[in-house]
Amino acid sequence: MPALQDKTFRAIADLMHSSVGLSFADHKKPLVASRLAPRMQRLGMDRFEQYFALIASHDDQGEFQVAVDLLTTNETYFFREPAHFDLLERELAQHRPASVRVWSAASSFGDEAYSTAMLLAELQQRGVIGADWSILGTDISDRVLRSAMQAIYPNERLRHVSPERLKRYCWRGEGDAEGLSQIQPRLRDHVRFGQLNLCLPIENIGPFDVVFLRNVLIYFDPPTKIQVVDRVLSQLRPGGILFIGTAEGRVNCRTPLTPLAPGAFRKVAA
Ligand SMILES: C[S@@+](CC[C@H](N)C(=O)[O-])C[C@H]1O[C@@H](n2cnc3c(N)ncnc32)[C@H](O)[C@@H]1O
Repeated sequence: MPALQDKTFRAIADLMHSSVGLSFADHKKPLVASRLAPRMQRLGMDRFEQYFALIASHDDQGEFQVAVDLLTTNETYFFREPAHFDLLERELAQHRPASVRVWSAASSFGDEAYSTAMLLAELQQRGVIGADWSILGTDISDRVLRSAMQAIYPNERLRHVSPERLKRYCWRGEGDAEGLSQIQPRLRDHVRFGQLNLCLPIENIGPFDVVFLRNVLIYFDPPTKIQVVDRVLSQLRPGGILFIGTAEGRVNCRTPLTPLAPGAFRKVAA
């Protein structure tokens, strides 16, 4: 693997921070090198300086986005942190809203959005909520969004989905598609995806009743985290619920919140 000089690593890290808010401390140098080296080699480059010049140029031919895709970690799976879905179910059962708007604000491949869709479809069927529910999934990475729209998953990622839900909401692949499942249109019709960088000002896309902002704050430095959380909370209605990853510690922001459970908060009504 070509050597990544400290100066070039800093230049790449600064570009990622100023453009998309990603934060890479010095100890992340080996990770950055190992993620970008195979791509450079495919492009016939043997120096990180060449690759940096390409992604920093105006005429990068989409390479900056490729680098972002390579440098973000998209690990996700269905019904990750199930206590959050249980809490959401209890909340909805208590309030029985006619409509529900959910935002999965770092949706990755869509597992979180479709897990929520399975829960809401079931609650609709039981008459707990009305038919007017929708989920928006957004992410910075093109690659994951394209995959989310196809809604095809290795069965392994659906390991926490109950057999009844699998039967009701998924098509199991056969032949060449053995080992894969696709989410059925009756759920997909309620879910849409779009690209959104949490580190830039966002237009009005809310108000949402529920926002999942899970396992993404880890990418940002402390000042950026505060800005991102407040920006996301501006799209949550007062009384609405925010979920963050339970491993992400305390949520730091200016918007008043009441803790409900680990990683779950209610936006205080004005
Ligand atoms: C680890 S995944 C979390 C997926 C899901 N929320 C979960 O908890 O399973 C983190 C996602 O955050 C996205 N991401 C990173 N920086 C972002 C930014 N500035 N704006 C929007 N999404 C970002 C990554 O592309 C990645 O798909």
